[in-house]
Amino acid sequence: MAGASTPEIASSVVNAGAIGSLPLAGIKYSQPEKLQTILTKYKALVAPGIDYRNVNLNFFCYELPDVNNKAVNRAWIQHIQSYFKPLGIATESYTDTLRDTYDTFARIEEFPAYFDAIIEFRPKIISFHFGIPPARVLARLRAAGIKLFISVTNVDELKQVLAAGFDGVILQGYNAGGHRGNFIRNDPADTKLEARALTEEVLAYLETTDTTTSDNIFIIPAGGISTGAQIAAYLRIPGVSATQLGSVFLATPESSVPQYHKDLLTSHPDGFETILTPYGTGRAARAFKTPFMDKLYRESAGLQLPDYPLPADVFRGLNGVLAQQTGRREFNMYLVGAGHKNLSADPVEVVIERLINEYQSELSN
Ligand SMILES: Cc1cc2nc3c(=O)[nH]c(=O)nc-3n(C[C@H](O)[C@H](O)[C@H](O)COP(=O)(O)O)c2cc1C
Repeated sequence: MAGASTPEIASSVVNAGAIGSLPLAGIKYSQPEKLQTILTKYKALVAPGIDYRNVNLNFFCYELPDVNNKAVNRAWIQHIQSYFKPLGIATESYTDTLRDTYDTFARIEEFPAYFDAIIEFRPKIISFHFGIPPARVLARLRAAGIKLFISVTNVDELKQVLAAGFDGVILQGYNAGGHRGNFIRNDPADTKLEARALTEEVLAYLETTDTTTSDNIFIIPAGGISTGAQIAAYLRIPGVSATQLGSVFLATPESSVPQYHKDLLTSHPDGFETILTPYGTGRAARAFKTPFMDKLYRESAGLQLPDYPLPADVFRGLNGVLAQQTGRREFNMYLVGAGHKNLSADPVEVVIERLINEYQSELSN
């Protein structure tokens, strides 16, 4: 979870015997020293006797945005600024230029120091969100003994992933928190399958392929899972290898989201509404349906969005200035999955212990 997960979360998960994740989308490839800092910190937190390689390094792989579409940028900047101007935020720094605040793994070969550092670390898994990197890049990772996983949201993507020789698929349901991993950005033909239905479709498709394909791929549903009973229900389905959880860790002390986000999570024990919206970053993302995100969604419909992730530059930029100058945070986007209840602020270790206890008591029923 870029912007939320930390070496502390990953190491606690790994120390508990599961696979941790280090999302690295936010680390620019021109700054390999920042990558090293995170990897070193994570490694130091893994308990003696536990293999630090039981981790998944996660990257985004999206199409390069068109940064020169100035007319579209200008109109979008003006639109977003119109919400912040009445709040007294000086906005001259945005005119018609928006920056790509991430990096796409499609360009990793242009950054050999960063690429080498990943290979040298040799995590057991590297996973991708939004698309498939070039075959030569995948071949190099595979040759280093790294298993390759990727988010898929429908069977068409699964077919491409199987052809590219991936080892595992994260079946990202429509209910999952964060950015939807569709290979086609904001796909108007999105099948919108929630995790359970997507799992069933994928397994049914794999039944039709030869067994060497279906037996050799890890199947990992993700979306809306926050209890051990839910994990047990998935693991009872023949073919499912594991589950991936996100939102359940967001409110932990180890998570790096702002306290405002944590309070939203923990103050709705009976559940909350979410919205899938592209208007924060340019790609559909599932987030809290706050009054502001709802308003922005309704009032943005007719406008052309700059390519992902350019809108994030102005959206996060203005929210950052607002928070700094006034302490107000209600205009930002707070990612979370759908269907969660009782999200707690307990430490990761306690959350995992609860999940294991619930899982075991479900199995003994
Ligand atoms: C705040 C947040 C950030 C996320 N960032 C990423 C990311 O960087 N890479 C990724 O592959 N998935 C990301 N996801 C998706 C999660 O990895 C996971 O699949 C999802 O949270 C599962 O759904 P759940 O939140 O309902 O448990 C993110 C999710 C959230 C809530």
